Amino acid sequence: SAAAVLIAALLTTACTSPPRTPTGLPSGTGGADGVGAEGIGDPYFPRYGNGGYDVGHYGIQVRYDPATDRLTGRVAITAVAAAPLRRFNLDFTGLPTSKVTVNGQPATARQEESELVVTPAAVVRGDFTVEIDYAGVPQPIKAILGDGGWLHTDDGAIALGQPESASSWFPVNDHPLDKATFDLAISVPEGLSALSNGTPEGTTTADGWTTWRWAERAPMAPYLTTLVIGDYRITSGSHRNRPILTAVASSFPADGDADRAMARTAEVADFLETQFGPYPFESYGGVVVADPRISYALETQSRPVYGPSFFRAGSDSTWVVAHELAHQWFGDSVSIGGWQHIWLNEGFASYAEWLWAEKDRKISVQSQFDDVYRLMDWSIPTGDPGPANIFSGAVYRRGALTVHALRLTVGDDAFFRILKAWTGERRNGNAVTADFVSLSERVSGKSLRPLFDAWLFGTTQPPVPKP
Ligand code: ARG
Ligand code: ZN
Repeated sequence: SAAAVLIAALLTTACTSPPRTPTGLPSGTGGADGVGAEGIGDPYFPRYGNGGYDVGHYGIQVRYDPATDRLTGRVAITAVAAAPLRRFNLDFTGLPTSKVTVNGQPATARQEESELVVTPAAVVRGDFTVEIDYAGVPQPIKAILGDGGWLHTDDGAIALGQPESASSWFPVNDHPLDKATFDLAISVPEGLSALSNGTPEGTTTADGWTTWRWAERAPMAPYLTTLVIGDYRITSGSHRNRPILTAVASSFPADGDADRAMARTAEVADFLETQFGPYPFESYGGVVVADPRISYALETQSRPVYGPSFFRAGSDSTWVVAHELAHQWFGDSVSIGGWQHIWLNEGFASYAEWLWAEKDRKISVQSQFDDVYRLMDWSIPTGDPGPANIFSGAVYRRGALTVHALRLTVGDDAFFRILKAWTGERRNGNAVTADFVSLSERVSGKSLRPLFDAWLFGTTQPPVPKP
């Protein structure tokens, strides 16, 4: 039966992955021998993140000179050890380190592929700090899903990527399960902009270098960090008592499609707030880059980055703004507990495109559902697509179909209560598919396991639920 398939899928996950907490999230502890694990326990990407500790805050100071492509950095990490640790890992793609201290004491660090293995002078217990000085020429991260990480551009650089990117420019526990707050200070040659996440905290200029300061005070998954350096046209102000800052690469025509789409950021966010509940962050924004190697957009926290291909004269580009802003609720504020749950991000962000098209262009959600439903290939299960398919139509479009199937089953009233309960109860946290199924059952009072089983885990076309 369909239910058996779902149970089998859940069991398979449970049997092939590390110990789990009652929420179904990997426990992320290190080995019993006081050595932190090299991965946090993600079944799709076993080396992502690390075990044994939980980061609370990253203080990042970097200086980048586009003329030499050289990055000089210092990161100060505050963390809590889950158990006494005599050794632990950070994800870092290998810029040479010059100084590593743990709790202020010199520590030894050795690079092993994309891991920095740190051995502190004394066993670490409870709260601890790590400081790392490093410098070098940052490199992109090669991945099956397309490159991520640091990209040197004509006028500066772009650091961006999913499911990993941060480890190309700072040492990090790079998995969405370890969300942390961030302060960033980025120094670039005077005249260039250095854009990042969160609230703009001003700039200072000395000796031909300008330092741009940013603060993301809500917990953020490391893959949602971004750094965009170059020639940008910046528009800033405030919206509903929060800072809003958008930027468009100067090579785009002023008042063209990119500027017009960015100018609608606040309007789109306000519409989504009526559907999903309160906007989750302290600031708003967006950055449009010109480098064609960025072939996608990414929901980098509070300030998504958009590649150039979305903005063509005469086209409507606000659908991608609706998609990336929807991720601020689905993915950024409520983050997945493992990459197999990515439909919880992409299914809802894709559904937001349908909601926005209905609102902005009077194209009904139902007609959009009907078109996609007819053409869907059902062979890849949305709820467990496999690492090579995390950005596939099975996740995005079939994910959106699943969201609408839920709506048809429970009715509009319960549906929007489910969405708001999810973003409210799980705000700033992590969650997995089973959490969404339970919450939907609780809020609607309906038994929904067979529905999710068929739409998320089946491999044949499910019937459209009768309202
Ligand atoms: N999460 C992004 C979005 O749907 C997509 C990122 C695609 N990543 C990639 N490496 N192509 O908005
Ligand atoms: Zn998306």
